This record gives sequence, structure tokens and C-alpha cells, in this order.
Amino acid sequence: MRTQVAIIGAGPAGLLLSHLLHLRGIESVVLELRSRAHAEARVRAGVLEQGTVDTLVEAGVGDRLLREGLLHHGIELRFGGAGHRVAFEKLVPGRAITVYGQQEVVKDLIAARLKDGADIRFEVDDVMPHAADTDRPYVTFGGQRLDCDVIAGCDGFHGVSRQTIPPGVLTAYEREYPFAWLGVLARVPPSTEELIYARTDRGFALHSMRSPEISRFYLQVPPDEDVAAWPDTRVWAELKTRLETVPGFELSTGEIVDKSVTPMRSYVAEPMRYGRLFLAGDAAHIVPPTGAKGLNLAVADVRLLTRALAHWYETGSADLLDGYSDACLKRVWRAQHFSWWMTTLLHTFDSDDAYGHRLQLSHLDYVTSSEAAAATLAENYVGLPYGAAE
Ligand code: APR
Ligand code: PHB
Repeated sequence: MRTQVAIIGAGPAGLLLSHLLHLRGIESVVLELRSRAHAEARVRAGVLEQGTVDTLVEAGVGDRLLREGLLHHGIELRFGGAGHRVAFEKLVPGRAITVYGQQEVVKDLIAARLKDGADIRFEVDDVMPHAADTDRPYVTFGGQRLDCDVIAGCDGFHGVSRQTIPPGVLTAYEREYPFAWLGVLARVPPSTEELIYARTDRGFALHSMRSPEISRFYLQVPPDEDVAAWPDTRVWAELKTRLETVPGFELSTGEIVDKSVTPMRSYVAEPMRYGRLFLAGDAAHIVPPTGAKGLNLAVADVRLLTRALAHWYETGSADLLDGYSDACLKRVWRAQHFSWWMTTLLHTFDSDDAYGHRLQLSHLDYVTSSEAAAATLAENYVGLPYGAAE
């Protein structure tokens, strides 16, 4: 078998890359470990930057997103018994976010790819990239061999692509946080119009949503927390304690339909390339979800990779491929900083550190009282616009 680009992983990065390449006349095969049903059912984050929405719409896969996505012009930071709105319309005029589940993006991309006759293989075992340091790379899987011009490693943080790069090539930059998030999806209308990021002495809580009927919540919990420690009654009690902290706010409860624990970690591998193997999305970098940047970074990476590959096929010049990693990393590091910053701002750390606690409260007070500080949060949250080269 032969294709131009062998793509490992059918998450948002791999699927969008396959679609964008198709629009430029470049063919690919996508190899995915899990089933289509699994990929479509996995509940993940749900905040899309304007640039992400524009990318999907321009690529012809944004119809349902424009119909069903929820446009938000602000978020609330809740702490110390009061809510403070960060008003995007005032701080970053003309820019907003769209709340739309990542699994919906994945569904839309799979449907579009299959409609165009794409070769996506689900449930393939033993996917392994080979000879990335030669000009004849190939991928093996389930006893078969796929020859290609380049390999795109879009297989997420736990994927195989990054692991096959010989030691010494990549430098990893990492930070672990001493807590995780318990994510909850519930069949209940949101009790708020905009997202609420709440800091309390018992830990962080986030009230998000998916639709007018479905709410999404997160609770800061100890690292490696067992979901079994959180029966529904405990979830609702803790959400109420952490969110019902301002006068008049009452949290509606309902049927919980999904519950999972997500570790909180920051990670970057540099460079995002080894020969003809290019890493994109979570395969190369992850952020804690507090800044809602993971999916948006994956989209930014595959935009750049598509442009670089198209340039290579059209002109024979590898200039953009050679610049791919540096071009991605500029945005990646901005998002790393922002995600770390939001995480530090809102979570409860070692409760004995009274000094750290005071710093955090001062920081929150500053972000919600200074227009300059709020604008910094808003500009990063809605996402920095794409530069001409992106
Ligand atoms: N072989 C083939 N496929 C694999 C392998 C493997 N060995 N390992 C993992 N995969 C698949 C996973 O099953 C998953 O479908 O690769 C895909 C990776 O998808 P994501 O983890 O969603 O990563 P990415 O496409 O980069 O999207 C980034 O995902 O984690 C969130 O917050 C993150 O929103 C961001 C987005
Ligand atoms: C979500 O809705 O899943 C979500 C929203 C905001 C975040 C993280 C996750 O910061």
C-alpha cells in the first residue's frame, strides 16, 4: 500500500489534517487504534477559539458547529463570595469563543472524510512508524505495510509516534500539578449563561455546558482520584458547595451521564519533528485544561503542517517543513504559559502556604479590577489571531 501522508491517530489533529490535505489535493491514510464509536463517544473539552471556528468553517466542516455551537462573549471568575465577569466584547472587541464539544468536532470530521471517500482505518493494532530518518518512511500495522512520503504523528499524548523517536533527539519540558479534574456531564440545563471558573478554599470548580439541555462540570480532586469515590450525590453536593458562593445563585441538578478523571499536566517535546515524522497536537504537547487550549493548539499545528506539505509538493522546497516545529512552538509556548497561569490562579495548592494563598487572592483581585490585566486574560482566552504565516 502507498499514500502520500500516513496519519497516525483519528483525533481532531489527525482527522482535520487529513481533511485539509484533501482540500489541497494531497492524499492520506488515517490509522486509528480505537473504534469509530469510541472516538465519537469520548467526552473531552469544548471551547473553540474564533480561529478554530474559522478554520473549520472555511474547510467546509462548520455547518453544524455554526448551528449548534454556543457563542460566548465572556466568562465569570467567582471567588471571595462574588462573581466577576471578564467581558470579551469590551476587552477584545469582535472576538469570542464557541462552546461545542470536541467529540462533536470529531463526528463532523469523520462524516466529512468518509463522504469524500477517505481511507480511515479504525481499530488497527500495532501501528508503528519506521525509517523516519530516511526518504522512504513507512508505517506497519496489523501485518500490513503502508509506504508514504511523510508520517504525521497525531496519536495523542500516549501514542506511539513520539516514543519511536530515538533518545537524545527530543527535549521534553514538563510540569505536573498536584491535583486532577473530575469531569461530569449531566442532563440538566446550565444554571448560567456563561462559563464560571470558581476558586474556593475546597478547590476549583468549573461550570461549563454543551447545549441548552446539557451541562458540563469539573471539580479539582486529588491526583489519581478514583471515580468510584464520587457517587452522584457527592458530586452535586460538592458542586453546590463550590459554586453556590454568591447571593442568589442556585445550581440545578439532574442525571449524570458521564464521569471521568483527567490528570493535569503540562508537556512540550521539542522539536516536533524527526526526519519525515512530524508530530501534531497532543502527541507533541499537552496543557492543563484550565485555559481550554488543547484542541485549539492541535488545529493550529495541522494548519501549519498542511501549508508546509502543500508547499513541498507544489514547489519541491522543504523550507516550510523545516520551519514547522519553530512555527508551532511559538503558539504552543504562549498557550503553555497561559494554561499554567490560569491553573495557578484558580486552584487550591498546599493549604499551609499562607503566603501563596495571599498572592493568589491578590492576583485574582488584580485580574478582575484592572482592565489591562483582564485584557491579558481575555486576549489569551479567546486566542491570539493567526499570523500571515499560519
Ligand atoms: N495507533 C493509532 N492510533 C492511536 C495510537 C496508536 N498507537 N495511540 C493513540 N491513538 C489515537 C487515539 O485513540 C486518539 O483517537 O490517536 C488519537 C489521538 O487523539 P487526541 O488524543 O484527541 O489528540 P489530538 O488529535 O492531538 O487532539 C488534541 O485532544 O486531549 C485533547 O485537550 C486535547 O483537545 C485536545 C485534543
Ligand atoms: C469544557 O466545557 O469541557 C471546558 C470548558 C472550559 C475549560 C475546560 C473545559 O477551561
